[in-house]
Amino acid sequence: MKISSAEFVMSNSNVAHCPKEPLPEYAFIGRSNVGKSSLINMLTERKHLAKTSGRPGKTQLINHFKINNNWFLVDLPGYGYARVSKKDKKTFQKYITEYFEKRRQLVCAFVLVDVRHEPQPIDLEFMEWLGTNQIPFTIIFTKADKLKPASLDTHVQDYLRKLLEGAWEEVPPHFVTSSANRTGREELLDYIEGINQEFFRANN
Ligand code: GTP
Ligand code: MG
Repeated sequence: MKISSAEFVMSNSNVAHCPKEPLPEYAFIGRSNVGKSSLINMLTERKHLAKTSGRPGKTQLINHFKINNNWFLVDLPGYGYARVSKKDKKTFQKYITEYFEKRRQLVCAFVLVDVRHEPQPIDLEFMEWLGTNQIPFTIIFTKADKLKPASLDTHVQDYLRKLLEGAWEEVPPHFVTSSANRTGREELLDYIEGINQEFFRANN
């Protein structure tokens, strides 16, 4: 899929105020610093569309970006970031949870995990919560450029094997990406295009 336009629409902390248009929407969720905002910029080829930072806790609101005038990418705050105050952390959790529970046009949650790390309890808990709430999700391994090609596949297969040893009976859809060298860009955009087509067929 070609990206012909990508524009910031709005930021807010209340799902009730999110855009009303019934367009398919993809949300990026995962631990702080995993690369959610960077991946949005990589996919759209706009360096500064979503705000990124080397320090965790950069994204603090629900941010809507409208792509090609007919679908949305949503950048969310990271979970599990210890340095925000307890009160703020609670607020994030509440509106992130509300966003996922209430957002009807959400067609897929992209759960980002750093490809270098073993499955973390907070990610597993979040995936289980999505499963329980019947919210479709896809795992996106990030920062693939940080591993040598030979160990990349081993890390991915180990991660997926551990999921199967846990709560999951089948391997969820997954992609390996790098915002630094654009690994996975075409594959992920084609995947989104397929889901968009299904959405518009079902809703027209
Ligand atoms: P929060 O908004 O704080 O939750 O973080 P985030 O998940 O949006 O992460 P962000 O995109 O801001 O990136 C965090 C840091 O990781 C930045 O320093 C990025 O440059 C770096 N980073 C993100 N993706 C990649 C990647 O694919 N490769 C490498 N090498 N660095 C990356
Ligand atoms: Mg961010």
